[in-house]
Amino acid sequence: MGDQPQLNNNNKFIPDHVAVIMDGNGRWAEKMGEERKAGHQEGMEAIKRVSIRASERGVKVLTLYAFSTENWKRPPQEVKFLMQLPVNFFDRFVPELQENNIKVNMIGFKDKVPGPTKRSIEKAIDQTKNNTGMILNFAFNYGGRAEIVEATKSIVEKVISGELNKKAISEEVLQSELLTRSIQPYDEVDLLIRSSGEQRLSNFLLWQNAYSEFYFSKLFWPDFTGDVLDEALDDYQNRSRRYGAI
Ligand code: IPE
Ligand code: IPE
Ligand code: MG
Repeated sequence: MGDQPQLNNNNKFIPDHVAVIMDGNGRWAEKMGEERKAGHQEGMEAIKRVSIRASERGVKVLTLYAFSTENWKRPPQEVKFLMQLPVNFFDRFVPELQENNIKVNMIGFKDKVPGPTKRSIEKAIDQTKNNTGMILNFAFNYGGRAEIVEATKSIVEKVISGELNKKAISEEVLQSELLTRSIQPYDEVDLLIRSSGEQRLSNFLLWQNAYSEFYFSKLFWPDFTGDVLDEALDDYQNRSRRYGAI
């Protein structure tokens, strides 16, 4: 958590880290009588709307779940389509990110991501690296369990090499080995939003959601708007976060 949480116009707190499970693209397309692809395409427009609004509202990190480690189970044509989306997206959206001082980041396992996709993401990260506003963090080929396994391996290696004492292993140490170390100190999620009416985590930020507030919207992701984000932020204002205390 950050030092100075942002206050909104009503003097209430804006969550530092908002994470979104952008779900329902396929069902949106089905509703429109179109192929699933059309839903993913339209979902990119929602990403733009929500990113700009989140940045305007003073969110520090917006993490968007774009592709999970389980999404490889989908038909090859759909996986291929999803893999090339970042290329088109960043080509068109980077100027607007620049205007809004938004910095791009990525969490996920890059090794399995095709070269052109990886390069387009890396290019967007590089182009926006000097921006000092909101971090737009894409979870791409991300999986919470794999993330914890990789962190564990890294800790074991450090213990074996003598860099780390076994007794010094703590929650902080494990947390600092997660992929979200790149968005510290805002790596813990404050507000988790899922669209499309499903109410599950689907392997998203398992550790980081330990004490987050959940907001579920019945809207399919391509129908999501800045105003719906505002509703979620308003709802968050009325939550009482106790972290186990009273
Ligand atoms: C979310 O929409 C996008 C990704 C998971 C990549 P879906 O593609 O899961 O859409 P539904 O859930 O089938 O409607
Ligand atoms: C979660 O949605 C993954 C992303 C939004 C990228 P899914 O549609 O893959 O999740 P399940 O299969 O409904 O749990
Ligand atoms: Mg889905």
